[in-house]
Amino acid sequence: MGFLSVLSMAHKLVKERVSQGDTVVDATCGNGVDTLLLAELAGRRGAVYAFDIQAEALERTRDRLAGSSGGGVSAAEKAGAASSGAALHLVHASHADMAAHVAADAHGNVAAVMFNLGYLPGADQTVITTPDGTLAALDAALSLLRPGGIVTVVLYPGHPGGAEEADAVQQWAASLPQAAAQAVLYRMAQKAEAPYLMAIEKR
Ligand SMILES: C[S@@+](CC[C@H](N)C(=O)[O-])C[C@H]1O[C@@H](n2cnc3c(N)ncnc32)[C@H](O)[C@@H]1O
Repeated sequence: MGFLSVLSMAHKLVKERVSQGDTVVDATCGNGVDTLLLAELAGRRGAVYAFDIQAEALERTRDRLAGSSGGGVSAAEKAGAASSGAALHLVHASHADMAAHVAADAHGNVAAVMFNLGYLPGADQTVITTPDGTLAALDAALSLLRPGGIVTVVLYPGHPGGAEEADAVQQWAASLPQAAAQAVLYRMAQKAEAPYLMAIEKR
């Protein structure tokens, strides 16, 4: 049967914690796969903020949620996007600045923030997330979360710069006071270069 993939495990943890009407954040929207999940979970009364520094990623995400993309969008995804109706805020900015873009009345009440680090598949692979920006964004994400809210981070130690970023994220998580948050890893023990998941639940 095998274990859930890293991405499926991130989705499972988020699904268990997000309800209709919630405010949620995709910190690295890329192709919009996580944004679509978040929009479906938050529903008509919810709000989704999706960040990326590349206009192409925002375009791909817009297409996926509109159900208008030709490539790689399934019928089920189109139906989900069409029915979700969540207020979608596509933000062309670094996730390090997320607090400035999320509505003030949602601060401290965000249900989930999803990160999927690295580069946009099929685009310039030198445009990647970086330790400084990622750690600033993680701090912002934790402060935006409500108690019981979750941050998921998919880490890619296999590409240039990825291992350093993953180490920095692990050190950041290890230094969080246990009274503030609980951090866990989901990782293949025999493949050091495989992508892995960190999840942080705010207390
Ligand atoms: C692996 S992709 C994300 C995949 C996406 N979650 C999906 O479902 O398709 C990583 C994305 O992070 C974006 N990125 C890099 N630096 C960023 C930053 N400082 N703020 C926001 N996004 C960033 C890249 O442009 C890229 O689109």
